[in-house]
Amino acid sequence: MSGGASGRIPKSFIDDLIIRVDIVDLIDSYLPLKKSGSNYVARCPFHNEKTPSFSVSRQKQFYHCFGCGAGGNAISFLMEFSHLGFVEAVEDLAGFSGVDVPRESAKGMGGRPQKSTKSLDDVFAVLSTVSSFYQQQLKDSEQGREAIKYLKLRGVSGEMARDYVIGFAPDQWDALIKQFDRAALRSAGMLSSNDSGREYDRFRGRLMFPIRDRRGRVIGFGGRVMGEGQPKYLNSPETDVFVKGREVYGLFELLKQNGKPQRIIIVEGYMDVISLAQFGIKNVVATLGTATTKDHLSLLFRFTNELVFCFDGDNAGRQAAWRAIEVALSSLGGRRLVKVFTLPQEHDPDTLVRQVGADEFNRQVEGAESLSGYFFRRVTEQLNIESIESKARVVDEAEQFLRVMPNGLAKEMMQKQLFEKTQLVGVGADDASHVGNKRQLKRTPLRVVMALLVQNPELINEVAAHEVNWNECSFSGKELLLKLLAKIESEAPENAAMLLEKYRGTEDEMLISKLAVFEVSPFENEGFNEEAEFNGALQRVVSQGKQLFFNELIEKKLSKK
Ligand code: UTP
Ligand code: MN
Repeated sequence: MSGGASGRIPKSFIDDLIIRVDIVDLIDSYLPLKKSGSNYVARCPFHNEKTPSFSVSRQKQFYHCFGCGAGGNAISFLMEFSHLGFVEAVEDLAGFSGVDVPRESAKGMGGRPQKSTKSLDDVFAVLSTVSSFYQQQLKDSEQGREAIKYLKLRGVSGEMARDYVIGFAPDQWDALIKQFDRAALRSAGMLSSNDSGREYDRFRGRLMFPIRDRRGRVIGFGGRVMGEGQPKYLNSPETDVFVKGREVYGLFELLKQNGKPQRIIIVEGYMDVISLAQFGIKNVVATLGTATTKDHLSLLFRFTNELVFCFDGDNAGRQAAWRAIEVALSSLGGRRLVKVFTLPQEHDPDTLVRQVGADEFNRQVEGAESLSGYFFRRVTEQLNIESIESKARVVDEAEQFLRVMPNGLAKEMMQKQLFEKTQLVGVGADDASHVGNKRQLKRTPLRVVMALLVQNPELINEVAAHEVNWNECSFSGKELLLKLLAKIESEAPENAAMLLEKYRGTEDEMLISKLAVFEVSPFENEGFNEEAEFNGALQRVVSQGKQLFFNELIEKKLSKK
């Protein structure tokens, strides 16, 4: 793949790559994964099986097969799946995440990417030029004037058209191709091609909404037909600079107004963002015709503590809401708040704000349901309409949803509430632990300590406070633990995947990857209770170890007598 395969790949690059890539996306691009609880599962590609025991964890950035024991991080997956060498796997992975592999030069200085930055620059540059072109077409062309009429019809002001850089793509096959660099247009996702490979402009005769990243650079477009027509919206494909699961529409414009809004409202449509802004409600972003992802939420939670999902009152909206709930549950914790605003039937935010005005819209947003309120209302609705057998399924699904929540009070309360509800309808919901994997190692304090360390290497910072004198501690597995502590100390890995990378090819590789997928609690762990769990378990290991040490000491003394 990479041209001058001469120098070594810098270690820091490999670490960055593991952080940058999401193993779920990577593996999903090779074999379709299905969500199951907080993990993703598939039939294992490394051995024959009928039921899926291959599991991928987004939190741990790990895959693991309970059937054949295969497991590892993104690099291991490519090595095993595509039968690649380590360097080839790194190159493939870099290709997947759209970066070039740097090489250390012979002089040993930090490597510079060989050709990459220029081409990304070219992509940004052409997108910016195209956006200006579209804008100018809106203002100055015959067809553009029709587009302006349409905008007026929809009640969009000239000010909004300017703030959101709305443009118009002329209804021609070659408006872009005939004047801009074709390779750059292609990399920017601005071209389509027919079966015989002939390329033409992707967007034709559409109102164009540039999507900008947080720095204000155009990274893609959404294009709406004027009036009726299919598809109503055409979006840019994913490119090196445009990843839909990580970008939202309107964030740049929002942050320009207010870098720390009290809350951010998440809507579904471009036009919703623009209409609300026109009514002075400027803390709004839209997902880009894709489901809400965890990346979306952690991005938005960087700027505010409160997110309000705004979903259409129709069936599609309800479905989208339900999908978003699971993602939101796993992102809760700390002071984060998520609310759900279900719009009245037949409305989207655009039509609602035009009907009721900004003040009333804001009032309704403020009165939106809490996430847990919404969740239980939906679960109860389901329980009320389902047959007995399907009730168990509803409860099961609800349990799975709660499993992804970070440990803490909120989770406990929701689990309690679910338990009470299910008692009420007579479906036995025993604890969720039965859903976990069956071939798991037995849970001992030492395993808990080691597993938590592998899964959250930063927990090493907790160890010092215990002031352990390891020489006066005796327990089987002590050497392993000390070795692990030393490794984390010296390598300072950011996560489990990176730690495993440090064990590649060593005798402990297998053990560490087992620990990486060891389910410490019946519920996925993420959140502040991990620390407490770790400290508790470590304390038990140490106090038992001391006890044993002194028992042994006494025995030795006795036997000498
Ligand atoms: P809507 O159809 O609700 O869009 O789709 P809207 O913004 O209310 O459209 P108007 O008011 O008719 O102009 C919501 C979002 O779903 C994506 C777009 O991102 C759109 O803004 N979508 C919708 C598509 O990507 N393609 C489509 O064909 C339709
Ligand atoms: Mn609409």
